[in-house]
Amino acid sequence: MKIIYLLVSFLSFCVSAQVYNLPALPFSNDAYEPYIDGQTMQIHHDKHHAGYVNNLNKAIASTPMEKLSITDLLMYASFRSASVRNNAGGHYNHSLFWEILAPPADQKPMSKELENAIINQFQSIDEVMVAVNNAAATRFGSGWAWLVVNPQGKLAVYSTANQDNPIMDVSNERGIPILGIDVWEHAYYLKYQNKRGDYLSGIWSLINWGVVSDNYTAALNNPLLAELEKDNWLALKEFHKVMAQTFHPAEEKNFEPLRSRSGEMYAKAILLKNSRPPETVNNKKVQDALSRLEKQCFIIHSTVQKPSKKVDVQNALLFDQITKAHEIFHEIQGLCHD
Ligand SMILES: [Fe+2]
Repeated sequence: MKIIYLLVSFLSFCVSAQVYNLPALPFSNDAYEPYIDGQTMQIHHDKHHAGYVNNLNKAIASTPMEKLSITDLLMYASFRSASVRNNAGGHYNHSLFWEILAPPADQKPMSKELENAIINQFQSIDEVMVAVNNAAATRFGSGWAWLVVNPQGKLAVYSTANQDNPIMDVSNERGIPILGIDVWEHAYYLKYQNKRGDYLSGIWSLINWGVVSDNYTAALNNPLLAELEKDNWLALKEFHKVMAQTFHPAEEKNFEPLRSRSGEMYAKAILLKNSRPPETVNNKKVQDALSRLEKQCFIIHSTVQKPSKKVDVQNALLFDQITKAHEIFHEIQGLCHD
């Protein structure tokens, strides 16, 4: 009987096992007053953040995504469901937010390294705060303002909508966040109502620059920065979409997408050839492959435009031609990940 009880307990544990857990707030709810009231902290953490964690666990349950890291979920957000994108973002963003907030007496000072970087790029600490506040104040609706390390290792200030963040491929501006300000109304409405500006003035008293400094050093040494740089080659992504949407149907003998979009594919190959690859992959091998890809897309488009009475024969030729273009494309992708 005891064995059965243990087995049932074990199985129910497995069924309810959570991949992600709600991190505890580092301080009590009212420790952030008067800048953020205790009730707001309690609802924000215990209800809103908990909701993101629960919904994220539900969205990835029994899928291969259970084995992926949070940054993998975020980085390819455009390929994920809205639920994964919103809840993975919500969990990551709030976890960072709690980390960087502390009552004034518990804060640590900014490192020399971060201070020098800020002064080099923004002239003063005040200026970087103004830049973040501008990004936060002008974010329409719900979202976040960020101080990030961008793929070039520089500091940058961005803002994103909803629960997106600059790690995500849906964001035009990429980087690793080291400081994030939540500008959803749930972060401030009880105390500040519609006065987002007053909340933004108060929040800086709670920023623990010591933690932001640690985040800065960690971001500079994070291999994710190089991945973000390669992933930020938008012309390659644009070409990838049209290639995937024409080649894969052709593999299943459906040539209609290729026939109707060969001109678009050729145009995107030209744009890709003329785009600037990320510094780390801007070399002769990549440039050579881009030229070959452009020529191959021209050949495909010319074949499509030629009138032919023998459609099967022309389709077979098109399949050989797009297979070659597909191989060149993957050669470029491979060179990007060497
Ligand atoms: Fe929030």
